Amino acid sequence: MILTQDKITADELYDVLKDVKVGGQVCQYSHKKCEELTPLINEIKALKREKNACVLVHSYVTPDIIYGVGDYVGDSYYLSKKAMETDAEVIVFAAVRFMGDTAKILNPDKEVLIPGLNDGCSLADSITAQQVRDLKKKYPDHTFVCYINTTAEVKAECDVCVTSSNVYDICINIPNDKIYFLPDKLMGINLVNELKKRGIKKEIQYYSGTCYVHEEYDAEQIFKIRTEYPEAKIISHPECNEAVVKNSDYVGSTSQLLNYMKESDNDQFLMLTECGLSGRLSVELPGKTLVGSCTLCKYMKSNTLEDIKRVLTAPTERDRVRIDPDVLKRAKACVNAMFEYAG
Ligand code: 13P
Ligand code: SF4
Repeated sequence: MILTQDKITADELYDVLKDVKVGGQVCQYSHKKCEELTPLINEIKALKREKNACVLVHSYVTPDIIYGVGDYVGDSYYLSKKAMETDAEVIVFAAVRFMGDTAKILNPDKEVLIPGLNDGCSLADSITAQQVRDLKKKYPDHTFVCYINTTAEVKAECDVCVTSSNVYDICINIPNDKIYFLPDKLMGINLVNELKKRGIKKEIQYYSGTCYVHEEYDAEQIFKIRTEYPEAKIISHPECNEAVVKNSDYVGSTSQLLNYMKESDNDQFLMLTECGLSGRLSVELPGKTLVGSCTLCKYMKSNTLEDIKRVLTAPTERDRVRIDPDVLKRAKACVNAMFEYAG
């Protein structure tokens, strides 16, 4: 679906984007809008060739970026692997800063550029390295597990990194039966419940951060949809609260949710995660429909085609990911531990 050719036409772009209708004007594409976007997309494609750059795009970013200039689109685990494997000299990471940081940690010789001007994340911003150091003094026997939604400095203080696609399995595989999970409180509670469900006894402590998008969903929405659309499958992200997770038919990372819908015989879903996945569904699985609503992440949605062109043309110091060499070395050990435990 990604338009990989060197040059595209407005008709080709419109053909891919015409059915996307999420988030009001943010993600709706008339033919006229596609005519306006096409020259900019073609300029970015030429810049990518000139600079030997690849563009990694998270599923929550707008569809014009995903399908117009993206090389790879997916969840944070998939994109981390692509960042590690790429031969390109420059990585443009259309997502949020912690994902760009992770790309730099995994492939430090590359120039990593972050186009989004509001590149935070309510989880990554909820805890500092100093707070982790203090917690480690309080819980000296615990293995410190951090969600990938953390800064490089926080990763440097932790033992193992996880993503939403592997959090349960990795925490089970860690030989220690005492785990401190940070920063997501709701994912921490879901972890406790999942281990209990699988009959695994571990002491789990967790921090108090939340994702401002996912914490808004509640089980009431699910009960309402189950009454109105009894055939619909309910799918959610593990950053949602325990009532949402317990009442969902499937829980997973953004890529796992998309795969679930792809493989399901069902064609009606309530999806409790950011709207970006709804856009991908309209393009990639047009036979499937969504019921209910979704919400936007202001950080992911701050990525624009104009900013991608800007960072490829004249990146500022702010656009470049720079990590202190000692922090990078320690954060790399934490991220590498994820790949080891993930198998
Ligand atoms: P994924 O790893 O599922 O892409 O999640 C990242 C994220 O920020 C979800 O809010
Ligand atoms: Fe962070 Fe939530 Fe946005 Fe994901 S959706 S980037 S967790 S604020």
